[in-house]
Amino acid sequence: MLHQTVPNPAAALAMAGLGAGDPAVNDPGLLRSAFGRFATGVTVVTTGTAEGPVAITANSFSSVSLDPPLVLWSIGRHSRRFDAFAEASHYAVHVLAEDQADLCWRFSKSGSDFSDLDLSWNEHGVPLLPQALARFECSVADRFAAGDHMILLGRVLDLESQDGPPLLFAGGRPRVQSTG
Ligand SMILES: Cc1cc2nc3c(=O)[nH]c(=O)nc-3n(C[C@H](O)[C@H](O)[C@H](O)COP(=O)(O)O)c2cc1C
Repeated sequence: MLHQTVPNPAAALAMAGLGAGDPAVNDPGLLRSAFGRFATGVTVVTTGTAEGPVAITANSFSSVSLDPPLVLWSIGRHSRRFDAFAEASHYAVHVLAEDQADLCWRFSKSGSDFSDLDLSWNEHGVPLLPQALARFECSVADRFAAGDHMILLGRVLDLESQDGPPLLFAGGRPRVQSTG
């Protein structure tokens, strides 16, 4: 295996094109890359709008509380889908299975391409994808401004869950689970 060794922090900064007095955190590329070292699952979050269903691929999802049942995820303010989710009263989080990478890419590119998907709808007008490893139907419990994102805290109203390997994401790309 090829290992890139970095002799000291100053050399690391120089490699990144930063001066000694310039903290690495000020380099958006380094920050993004370091954030990406944290392996996550992948979700597709959906909501309903007057213009139709909207979805987005999100790996900022996290469970928060068992009692009451709370989850969160965050949406980028610069996303064209921001208003749809920032104004939503309800959303659904679909945890993707290992064989659903196509949905990951589809809903990272488009918020409205539901072609060939057999959608159902819950009583809050939220579109539900036909298959997922787990699905959390939520009402928005709170919203928090957080820099260039908004955190959407959701109260879980209903859920479905099944066994199977999850789709994993790390270092900017999907990963296959190690069997070792
Ligand atoms: C694996 C993965 C995870 C992502 N996670 C998030 C997320 O948590 N929040 C977010 O706002 N965008 C996230 N994105 C980006 C959006 O899916 C989408 O690509 C972005 O909003 C595109 O901009 P648009 O909405 O203007 O089309 C993620 C993309 C990928 C591929």
